[in-house]
Amino acid sequence: MASSEAEAQVFLFSICLVLSFIHGGGSSAMTCPIKCRVNGPEVQFPFRLINQPERCGYPGYDLSCNNMTRTVIQLPNSGEFIVLSIDYLSQTLIINESEPNSCLPGRFLDKSFSLAGSPFDEQEYPSEFTFLNCSSDDQILTTLSGLLRIVDCLSGENFTVVAVPTYYKYNMSTKLSSCSEIKTVSVPVMWPIGSNLTEGVTLKWNVPDCTSCEEGGGFCGFKKGASRDMPTGCANLPAPSGLPRVARYGILIGVGIPGLLCIIGLGCYLCGRFRACYQHRNSDAELGTTITPQLHPAVVPTGLDKPTIESYPKTILGDSGRLPKPNDSTCPICLCEYHPKETLRSIPKCNHYFHAICIDEWLKINATCPLCRNSRENSSVVTPSSSMSLSSSSSSLMAVP
Ligand SMILES: *[C@@H]1O[C@H](CO)[C@@H](O)[C@H](O)[C@H]1NC(C)=O
Ligand SMILES: *[C@@H]1O[C@H](CO)[C@@H](O)[C@H](O)[C@H]1NC(C)=O
Ligand SMILES: *[C@@H]1O[C@H](CO)[C@@H](O)[C@H](O)[C@H]1NC(C)=O
Ligand SMILES: *[C@@H]1O[C@H](CO)[C@@H](O)[C@H](O)[C@H]1NC(C)=O
Ligand SMILES: *[C@@H]1O[C@H](CO)[C@@H](O)[C@H](O)[C@H]1NC(C)=O
Ligand SMILES: *[C@@H]1O[C@H](CO)[C@@H](O)[C@H](O)[C@H]1NC(C)=O
Repeated sequence: MASSEAEAQVFLFSICLVLSFIHGGGSSAMTCPIKCRVNGPEVQFPFRLINQPERCGYPGYDLSCNNMTRTVIQLPNSGEFIVLSIDYLSQTLIINESEPNSCLPGRFLDKSFSLAGSPFDEQEYPSEFTFLNCSSDDQILTTLSGLLRIVDCLSGENFTVVAVPTYYKYNMSTKLSSCSEIKTVSVPVMWPIGSNLTEGVTLKWNVPDCTSCEEGGGFCGFKKGASRDMPTGCANLPAPSGLPRVARYGILIGVGIPGLLCIIGLGCYLCGRFRACYQHRNSDAELGTTITPQLHPAVVPTGLDKPTIESYPKTILGDSGRLPKPNDSTCPICLCEYHPKETLRSIPKCNHYFHAICIDEWLKINATCPLCRNSRENSSVVTPSSSMSLSSSSSSLMAVP
């Protein structure tokens, strides 16, 4: 059916419009962001997934998707870790162990975890931790549990391993009299007080520095045409007002969605008009509801009252669908062909025919004939050119009743 085709076209057009709007707001860098899984971290510069073009990411920031569709990073001297989240504004990412039974604090202890060779900065302070082996009976452990870093994965049934910053060791040792010192090691990542690191560890990067670009809502990346060892640039900084990206997305959603709804609404209204024309009119009341929405609520009616409209002559088309005036086969208002049994109304004096449902709605808001613009009182002048141009496209259809 033509109306459903029109509907589909309007819908596709709306989608295209919105997509082009979104795309227009982006840069070439916009083609890079991608995810391993729907709720996984967004991968964008300086990171890239290894199957993306090289220029999408800065050297050393390669990520991949593992066979469980988790985003993973390979640290040169420590192996694979799951990337839980990436914060491009603070230039930090949170990683977690990829093996279910691995023990990151244990790797600090045996020095099998290191950020050497990676682009991430080592934690500066506190960087030295002393591991203590304490009796699980020691009540002080429960009392101080919020202040200690309890290492569950190294603890046993009768002993608990805790880590304390080395500078604090001597203050703690008086309290932790049951404990024996295991080792003092350097810990390259931030280890929050009270944490056993099962929430993952935070890594920070400083090079490349995209913070001002991100703060300005821009898209960080290599300068156009530059190779991977060239400085980075900031594409598509917003207008001088400098709206943050969140605000721009807000505006996009705020304007884009109502805009889309308006377009769809307009499309549906137009389609509704077409459909109204193509359907057989059995009930005027039913059709009235289809067309009523075209009356804009703000329009002050300057049209005719119902009795006046009703006084205009009505014509019901015969089975042939032929019109009293053979050169009109199309309603000039809805541009639809007339069908048998449809009710037409003509405007006295100018003698133009329309679907009754179409012209009635028109006359409610406008007292003049939509074709010749003559009101009932004025002497009507038929303008054959306009009526010819409107009907010429479908005049050939008149040959087939
Ligand atoms: C994923 O790969 C690992 C080895 O890298 C393998 O042990 C594991 O069984 C794989 N899992 C699935 C679901 O394929
Ligand atoms: C981190 O990995 C450990 C071990 O696989 C797991 O128990 C923990 O729930 C993970 N944490 C997060 C936040 O995914
Ligand atoms: C802690 O001390 C107990 C004995 O008190 C010992 O059996 C255990 O192996 C020690 N654990 C570590 C990690 O050193
Ligand atoms: C822990 O201590 C209890 C008694 O205090 C003892 O029966 C048990 O064997 C100990 N467990 C281990 C693993 O040494
Ligand atoms: C550790 O104790 C010393 C005195 O013994 C004190 O001066 C210092 O402030 C304490 N440090 C902390 C971190 O409490
Ligand atoms: C680690 O800490 C969390 C909360 O801080 C706790 O729920 C969990 O039981 C602890 N131990 C392990 C082995 O995850």
